[in-house]
Amino acid sequence: MAHDDTALGRARVTDTPELEAYYQRLESLEAGALWKVANKIEPWYPQPQSVPVHWRFAELRPLVLEALNLVTGDDAGRRVVALYNPARRDIAATVGLLYSGLQVMGPGEAMTAHRHQAAALRFVIEGTGAWTIVDGQKLTVRPGDFAITPNWTWHEHGNEGVDGPVIWQDGLDIPLVNALDAPFYEVHPELYQKQMGVANSSLQIYGAGALRPFGDTWSKNHSPLLAYPWGPTYDALRAAARATDGSPYDGIIMEYSNPLTGGSVMPTMSAHMQLLRPGEATLAHRQVGSKIYTAAKGSGTSIVAGQRFDWVVGDIFCVPSWAWHEHANASQSEDACLFSFNDFPVMRSLGFFREEAYPDNDGHQPR
Ligand SMILES: [Fe+2]
Repeated sequence: MAHDDTALGRARVTDTPELEAYYQRLESLEAGALWKVANKIEPWYPQPQSVPVHWRFAELRPLVLEALNLVTGDDAGRRVVALYNPARRDIAATVGLLYSGLQVMGPGEAMTAHRHQAAALRFVIEGTGAWTIVDGQKLTVRPGDFAITPNWTWHEHGNEGVDGPVIWQDGLDIPLVNALDAPFYEVHPELYQKQMGVANSSLQIYGAGALRPFGDTWSKNHSPLLAYPWGPTYDALRAAARATDGSPYDGIIMEYSNPLTGGSVMPTMSAHMQLLRPGEATLAHRQVGSKIYTAAKGSGTSIVAGQRFDWVVGDIFCVPSWAWHEHANASQSEDACLFSFNDFPVMRSLGFFREEAYPDNDGHQPR
């Protein structure tokens, strides 16, 4: 279908001196002619201001570690190096209305508790001592583990390791919450939560895959399972790879799901782990929604809107809404895994979600 802004049905007024004078009179009344902006504010298809960006862990890691000596965690609120999309710095977005950053915590460090309207997720990149307390429940997380801090849940973090710092990736929907003028924030009245029950209790209760606690009365709109360890995640991908070819666009891909509903872990963000088998190269596709990827294992190449990103473990890159993307494992012998999170639950619940396969070059972008 041609996208012609001179076609009947699009705004195609030719301005005249008379119209210019009319526009000025409207402007003085805080009004304006819609036809002047109609084609811009109702484009034929998504026109994100965000662009594809590749953040190399090897380049960022020294700067992230440097922050340990520059600011205390509590003075910074959170000691985080934020990842900004060039044209979206004004709203602190990494891509679309999603935010991400690299948080670092030194050995023995612990932060105060707070809560906010934005939902958060964590993906651990480095260090073995990380913990977080979410609404009283202590979670211990290690490299490759995924954890959630659903909106308005109390949370505080720390590193009980003695051997080195923890670096984990934060993912939040802060720009979305702010775009909707819905943010709230509270510091915990006692500064720290009291831990309730045993550590990782949600994993003990809800972590057994298809076995659901019978008669469960959980009614919150987020997953009761708060942490998803790397080991069982990778095992599940490997097991599926023995039985299925998976997706031509994503290889073997699994969604971290709410075990009670099968739906996304939180109402605004979903997360996936995917396995690209040795030598595997996927076809290109695109979706309405923004995505942030983190290389979790191995190495590979992703083509995002025609740009090539060669990634290794810890690297992060983003895919703006409606951007073509395809992935390939660089190795002929080792698995490669990509963690990703997205705002697809928002798109789906509002009826905005669309997906399309790349139509040319046998399904691959030109490169
Ligand atoms: Fe927070």
